[in-house]
Amino acid sequence: MPGTCVVGLQWGDEAKGKLVDILTGDHEIVVRYAGGANAGHTVVSGGETWKLSLIPSGILRDGVTCVVTGGVVLDPAAVIGEIDGLESRGVTIAGKLLVSDRAHVVFPWHVAEDRLLDGSLSGGEPIGTTGRGIGPCYRDKVGRSLAIRLGDLYRPEFPAQLAHIAALKTKLLGTEFDAAAIHAEYGRYAERLRPLVCDTTAFLLDAVEAGRKVLFEGAQGALLDVDHGTYPFVTSSNSSGVGISSGSGVPGRWIERVIGVVKAYSTRVGGGPMPTEQDNDVGRRIRDRGNEYGTVTRRPRRCGWFDAVAARYTARLSGVDELAVMLLDVLSGFDEIAVCSAYRLDGRRITQFPSHVDDVKRAEPVYETLPGWREDLTAVRRYDGLPENARRYLARLGELLGRPVTVVSVGPDRAQTILCPKGTQPQPWPRPPHPTPAHA
Ligand code: GDP
Ligand code: IMO
Ligand code: MG
Repeated sequence: MPGTCVVGLQWGDEAKGKLVDILTGDHEIVVRYAGGANAGHTVVSGGETWKLSLIPSGILRDGVTCVVTGGVVLDPAAVIGEIDGLESRGVTIAGKLLVSDRAHVVFPWHVAEDRLLDGSLSGGEPIGTTGRGIGPCYRDKVGRSLAIRLGDLYRPEFPAQLAHIAALKTKLLGTEFDAAAIHAEYGRYAERLRPLVCDTTAFLLDAVEAGRKVLFEGAQGALLDVDHGTYPFVTSSNSSGVGISSGSGVPGRWIERVIGVVKAYSTRVGGGPMPTEQDNDVGRRIRDRGNEYGTVTRRPRRCGWFDAVAARYTARLSGVDELAVMLLDVLSGFDEIAVCSAYRLDGRRITQFPSHVDDVKRAEPVYETLPGWREDLTAVRRYDGLPENARRYLARLGELLGRPVTVVSVGPDRAQTILCPKGTQPQPWPRPPHPTPAHA
């Protein structure tokens, strides 16, 4: 079976982009299945840094077709800006990128509405969105009456459809949207994108049925999933593994391998609960060492210890087979490293991630501490070259999540990656899924 997926198991920025870039070497097609220009993926190779948002990180390798599917909300200006940026640095796009005609289009009213709503909450905590119009665009998609898909831009009804929606949005938001100007602008975008636009569902179904190797690239993280994350502090798509099929149109039967990506600690950008947050010297040290500032908005990321309750939940939710533990190098120098292996809620110890955000907010992490290591890991290239305590830490993460660690990352560069082939994974493995009952 041809499909491999890379899914972030935390609140995004787990270094999915780096892993996708590495795995692309073994795949023919790389697929982005959800989200929009809220994503920011950094890939570093041979001293060069690439920032990608809507275009799959596979674009940096030759001989690979990259696909942006109908599950994505597409800001045409953003994708064209990204194409221009890549082409100006010598990356070929023509013949390598396909964009779905089913993708919903982000318009100026979506961005205006995103900023208006998130910035004007009374009393409540803002979600802290990226301000890219993601939520309003997905809302119009589901609402159906005010939505435009990429394929609509090429149809004769488009001008009338746009004028109708612009007039309604002007009334609803109290901001003037000039339909003629927007039509002219989006008409230019449509012409520019025309050679890339197609039915990507048909393309992908043909590909998997022909046995071609496809890599699915997750955006955001599973805890930001609109149905299964820390709602309402989430994004507006199914960013966990459950969204792969709905976003891409490829049924789960074609997916053979799911790799869950985690940082060796936790980060979150924006509002919402984060039980293991360290708003103190520990968090500051992780932020400084890991350069934890948002790729899209440059906001400082909230940092804390690894939350195995949350990550075990999302590993199960996403059907994860194996784990990639990224940014392990950032933890060098701590005498002790804490891992949250349970929560205490209303006097009870629980290991199941609560479904209500208020319970996540109230949950107190129960930590176990492991001995740290002093050594710099950035030059280590083999699993057995890692300090014993780092190996012990990885083994414990694998044990808590019930999955083997098969990839370890010790720096941003492609080369700073340790692959742990089957049989040499951090021990102990194999293990049954986490033995503690859901409500111990
Ligand atoms: P994504 O959104 O999941 O693709 O992750 P981001 O690219 O937003 O954030 C991950 C950041 O960590 C990027 O700046 C990467 O260059 C960087 N990075 C990736 N792997 C490592 C690693 O192993 N160590 C360190 N120190 N940085 C890493
Ligand atoms: P990548 O793909 C981290 C967060 C925002 C905000 C919430 C909702 O780089 O991992 P939205 O603009 O989507 O409506 O914002 O989700 N968020 C991310 N956080 N990484 C991302 O993407 C994110 N995409 C959205 O900060 O809290
Ligand atoms: Mg990111």
